Amino acid sequence: MNAPILVTGGTGTIGSRVVPLLRSAGQDVRVLSRRGGDDAPGLTHVEGDTVAGHGLAEALEHVDVVLHLAGGAKGDDTAATNLAAAARRAGVKHLLLISVVGADAMPIGYFRAKAAAERAIAESDVPWTVLRAAQLHEFVLPVVRGMAKLPLLPMPGGLRFEPVHVEEVAARLAELALGSPAGRVADIAGPEVLDVRQLADAYVAAMGRRRRRGVPVRIPGAVGRAYRAGDNLAGAPVHRGARGWSDFLAELVARTADVLR
Ligand SMILES: NC(=O)c1ccc[n+]([C@@H]2O[C@H](COP(=O)([O-])OP(=O)(O)OC[C@H]3O[C@@H](n4cnc5c(N)ncnc54)[C@H](OP(=O)(O)O)[C@@H]3O)[C@@H](O)[C@H]2O)c1
Repeated sequence: MNAPILVTGGTGTIGSRVVPLLRSAGQDVRVLSRRGGDDAPGLTHVEGDTVAGHGLAEALEHVDVVLHLAGGAKGDDTAATNLAAAARRAGVKHLLLISVVGADAMPIGYFRAKAAAERAIAESDVPWTVLRAAQLHEFVLPVVRGMAKLPLLPMPGGLRFEPVHVEEVAARLAELALGSPAGRVADIAGPEVLDVRQLADAYVAAMGRRRRRGVPVRIPGAVGRAYRAGDNLAGAPVHRGARGWSDFLAELVARTADVLR
């Protein structure tokens, strides 16, 4: 029995990959989320809400390290502020936040909230680490799938992504949580920067479908300008994963084939 690492959002897409890595490293883990989950040896779940500020003091009892992964479309700034204050009161020794690449540059509410969350962690008086991650393949997939269903592929000029594999993000987070507070570390992103044409072509090829003709579209306003400027893309230094979009699509096709078999 060791002091558990608290993983907020440990039941989510990223969290559910990080928790087993921490367990394999011999760490006890406590997961905080709104809905809870099934306990197992070395793994407990507590219910709480980082945005509402419920259940944080109880979740932080006897905890030295917190990996804050809980997040949603809204309220990540409030959640980080609540958690940072509770962590300071609890005497936490390392508070680690996942943020998003471009947090301080993209004029979109989600990114702004992440930038505010970073500030809350950095100003918490708790030793901290912040890792900004690019969008996961799982996030890009529904966007590309939706576009690829249209008769003509909309091609917003300048819109690019550098999707990253969830297991590579999880591995980096586990490594950071097991290490010492490091401040803002190098962003993590996928191996390639791809535009919508490239993402969609790889998707339809993997699904055995026909390539769609494209039609140029323009994202208006400040958001369009930011995407065209690449403000959503990682700057240097960046830690690039090895598993790219076509690897992810091949895994997806193999999983679907397994289900149908
Ligand atoms: N997915 C991406 O492409 C990406 C890229 C960069 C950064 N990130 C960031 O990485 C983090 C994890 O992303 P993800 O894709 O794993 O998200 P996810 O699959 O939506 O999982 C979110 C997790 O947070 C918990 N949660 C949400 N709101 C909560 C609240 N108010 N209080 C307590 N728990 C809460 C959820 O459980 P309950 O619903 O049961 O509460 C779940 O465990 C997020 O902060 C996200 O912004 C994601």
